[in-house]
Amino acid sequence: MKFLDLVKARYSVRDYMDKAIEPEKMDYIMECVRLAPSAVNFQPWKFAIVTDKKTLAAVKTAYQREWIQNAPCVIVACSNHDESWHRKSDGKDHTDIDIAIAVEHLCLAATEQGLGTCWVCNFDVPVIRKVLNLPDNLEPAVLIPIGYTNKAEVAEKKRKATEEIMLL
Ligand SMILES: Cc1cc2nc3c(=O)[nH]c(=O)nc-3n(C[C@H](O)[C@H](O)[C@H](O)COP(=O)(O)O)c2cc1C
Repeated sequence: MKFLDLVKARYSVRDYMDKAIEPEKMDYIMECVRLAPSAVNFQPWKFAIVTDKKTLAAVKTAYQREWIQNAPCVIVACSNHDESWHRKSDGKDHTDIDIAIAVEHLCLAATEQGLGTCWVCNFDVPVIRKVLNLPDNLEPAVLIPIGYTNKAEVAEKKRKATEEIMLL
């Protein structure tokens, strides 16, 4: 697939089929995640692939929306603040940038494999911390429900025009 076509094909899927993801597809997607770039190549991330029914149900209590209920898997992307790069000039922690690149690799790779995803950041952090028993240095940053969808139509992309986002 041409990269632009892949970018256009990815959208926030909020309608999942209760159908398991083939292990080879998940391996492929996670390889795309693993190869993501990061500041100073520190790779300050950890991922939990949650498919076990009990843990999955517990993870979903952190984001109580009807549409997530059928998702057969939720990947929890965690920032590792012990390993992140802080810029010397102002101390800026680059973990959020690093994790965002890895998560978007995940979403684009999933799209290419015929799977839907949705970024979810509006979740209850303490709930995820407790369910996954996360140590203090790991911050759950993004939940990514992933799975097949019945929805064939991709909604039209609503985005600012190029002129609106250009400074120079
Ligand atoms: C950092 C980030 C956080 C997001 N958090 C949520 C969320 O908590 N719940 C949700 O339904 N969508 C969430 N989204 C999805 C956005 O609403 C969606 O990407 C945006 O509206 C553009 O639509 P599209 O993904 O279909 O192109 C998030 C997206 C990003 C990038």
